[in-house]
Amino acid sequence: MKMHTKIIAASITFILGSALSFAAPASENWENSCAKCHGADGKGQTKIGKKLKLKDYSDAAVQAAMTDEEIIKVTSEGVIQDGKEKMKGFKGEFSESEIKDFVAFIRAFKA
Ligand code: HEC
Repeated sequence: MKMHTKIIAASITFILGSALSFAAPASENWENSCAKCHGADGKGQTKIGKKLKLKDYSDAAVQAAMTDEEIIKVTSEGVIQDGKEKMKGFKGEFSESEIKDFVAFIRAFKA
């Protein structure tokens, strides 16, 4: 009986979850749009990442130095250094909630 209830509850959660969220998970968005620079592991050790001297998001000190608000702002607006666009802003590509989802995803790189 209990098992049965659990299965029904799980199915309802699943159906509601798929109906309500059209957003792609952060892991998929990261893989498609961020990993070529920041790396699948967030360490920035890709060819482009090394050239751009990207920070290592598995480093606790790097994580501590950035706020959740900064992650959202940078992901939305991008990075301009010395008048050049080093990272484009993604606000046209992702919804506000997808951009917010990157915060927890990036935090999870911390070793
Ligand atoms: C063309 C390469 C490139 C791509 C693609 C890219 N970034 Fe970046 N990103 C950079 C550069 C360059 C910086 C600035 C240097 C740094 O902070 O390491 C940066 C910085 C950041 C920061 C700021 C960290 C801080 O210290 O405040 C965040 C957060 C970030 N990127 C998230 C993302 C997310 C999320 C995506 C995908 C949606 C993405 N980046 C895609 C190049 C890129």
